[in-house]
Amino acid sequence: MRIILGITGGIAAYKSAELARMLANQGHQVRCILTEAGARFITPLTLTSLTGEPCYGANPDQGEWRANPGIEHIELARWADLVTVVPATANIIGKAANGLASDLLSTVLLATRAPVLWAPAMNTGMWEHPAVQANLDRLRSFGHAVVDPGQGILACGEEGAGKLADINIIAEAIQVHGTPKQPSLNGRRVLITSGPTREDLDPVRTLTNRSTGAMGIELARAFRDVGARVHLVLGGDLAAPWGVDTTRVRSAQQMLEACEARWAEADGLVAAAAVADQRPETSSPEKVKKGEGIETLNLVRTPDILARLSSARRPGQWVIGFAAESEKHLEHASAKLQKKQLDAVLVNDVQDGKAFGAQANTLTPVTAEGPQAPLGPLAKDQLARAVVQWWAQRLEARSI
Ligand SMILES: Cc1cc2nc3c(=O)[nH]c(=O)nc-3n(C[C@H](O)[C@H](O)[C@H](O)COP(=O)(O)O)c2cc1C
Repeated sequence: MRIILGITGGIAAYKSAELARMLANQGHQVRCILTEAGARFITPLTLTSLTGEPCYGANPDQGEWRANPGIEHIELARWADLVTVVPATANIIGKAANGLASDLLSTVLLATRAPVLWAPAMNTGMWEHPAVQANLDRLRSFGHAVVDPGQGILACGEEGAGKLADINIIAEAIQVHGTPKQPSLNGRRVLITSGPTREDLDPVRTLTNRSTGAMGIELARAFRDVGARVHLVLGGDLAAPWGVDTTRVRSAQQMLEACEARWAEADGLVAAAAVADQRPETSSPEKVKKGEGIETLNLVRTPDILARLSSARRPGQWVIGFAAESEKHLEHASAKLQKKQLDAVLVNDVQDGKAFGAQANTLTPVTAEGPQAPLGPLAKDQLARAVVQWWAQRLEARSI
């Protein structure tokens, strides 16, 4: 993505350097525009060094202006896929809300047709002032997005709202806001299961598997980015992604109950969780002592969540399953597709430590037409985006 990062005159400007570096490392092209006040807090040299791109000043005689200084603002406005202002002062928010164009950043903000994302930071009194809130409402009415500041001890010594949001959250919001929406998924509700389930023997011992939940979390992000309203039912310990409604669960039974509560309202299901097939027949509320040790475990079947949801589907709902196979991948996936009446199965090869906990992975989709071209090998975030693109194209072709 081509990102313009506007940096205005707030003490949090130093955090923008870290954000610029993070975005550049994620593969984005980042060009910074400093306001005159912003340039008192951070230098163009820092930003050009971190991004490898030019940094622009408030006026033609500041920062780096290139061939045609007279029309640079229009070129920049057209160049950007997204414009973000981090940190955004009360001053720039007021200017943009009222259509003022008194320097390069405010002019680009007025000229651009790209999505705009604001991350305000200011003293609590300023933040709570009705003028600032009215200006932000006006920006939202133009379709701009705002990452609200958090609470905390501010540079002015006060404690309250106004602290710049965490830059990881701002980076996620940039990803969400700057990704083009997929017509077949925009506004659609997608239920995603992810992670391992845990079946407790007693308060300290548990039966589980090697899944981390990373793939399902990346799928949740990728569906979110193209406009889907994602509900994630998540096992394991990984953090839930920003902007995704999440229910945390432990056992297969809890996962089933969380899914059943959401399934009727969903448009589709992606079942990426590694659900335990069995659980101990009995579970002790107290720790089982060594002397009384259970030498033989009696196991019983857990509910088949995917089969239950698939058989309860209403017309129009789609279901994608996952298969983790160590042999005869495609055969097993086709059998699963037919038995559970799925629209697609994404097959993982889990032999030799592949898939679970690995950084990169390959998924082969299997549909009623048979195996499709493999997606990957790719890092899990890119693989998730490839899955979403693949599925969106199929939905659009079938106009489901
Ligand atoms: C040390 C210092 C810190 C400031 N911090 C903020 C801030 O966090 N938020 C804010 O809205 N204004 C802050 N200001 C005021 C702005 O710098 C001032 O309104 C300036 O005109 C903003 O210009 P700009 O929006 O073009 O960058 C601060 C001023 C100073 C001197």
